[in-house]
Amino acid sequence: MNRAVTDTILRLEQFIPTVDDALAVPHEAGEFMHAMILASGAKRGVEIGTSYGYSGLWIASALAENGGTLVTIDHDARKSEAAQAYFEAAGLANCVDLRTGEASDVIASSSGPIDFVLNDADKENCIRYVELLADKLGDRAVVLTDNTVDLADQLADFVTWVRRRGDFYSMGLTVGNGMELSVRLSAPRDG
Ligand SMILES: C[S@@+](CC[C@H](N)C(=O)[O-])C[C@H]1O[C@@H](n2cnc3c(N)ncnc32)[C@H](O)[C@@H]1O
Repeated sequence: MNRAVTDTILRLEQFIPTVDDALAVPHEAGEFMHAMILASGAKRGVEIGTSYGYSGLWIASALAENGGTLVTIDHDARKSEAAQAYFEAAGLANCVDLRTGEASDVIASSSGPIDFVLNDADKENCIRYVELLADKLGDRAVVLTDNTVDLADQLADFVTWVRRRGDFYSMGLTVGNGMELSVRLSAPRDG
């Protein structure tokens, strides 16, 4: 990871605790996603919930190393503008397509195949977002859904639903605030 990216991550880690509306994945979760993307070779990423761009910096920098790009979505124009400035400072603006709008609309109009997704916007729509994405995911694409530990009550239905689908292999991680790791399978599995 180059110096511009690590410096920008550090700047955001200093900024986030100073504002009330900057919820972000913990550092550990950022590192985990970065390593997972490097290991998988994922190129086409989608992030639902940009906020100020903290998780996006970890994700986009790994996708860029793989020669790929990130589409990141948030309906808050003020935060998107701030995030864009952080992506520019990190030298990642050319591989980040920041969309300001309703997540379901942007996902519905996106094309696949997608290799990596961070599902981290409004928790009540987690199922809807994966439903909209399912046919656009490539074989072995990874969907990480955040907050399965700290917001376990809100994510319980999602976790049950995704594990019952035959077209994902899905398990829980205790990384960061807890994440459900769902791997898209080419053919449904029995049991
Ligand atoms: C938890 S924050 C994302 C944190 C970010 N992934 C990070 O770790 O740096 C959730 C974001 O989702 C956005 N959001 C919530 N509901 C949305 C919706 N329906 N469409 C688009 N964005 C939404 C909020 O504006 C907020 O910035």
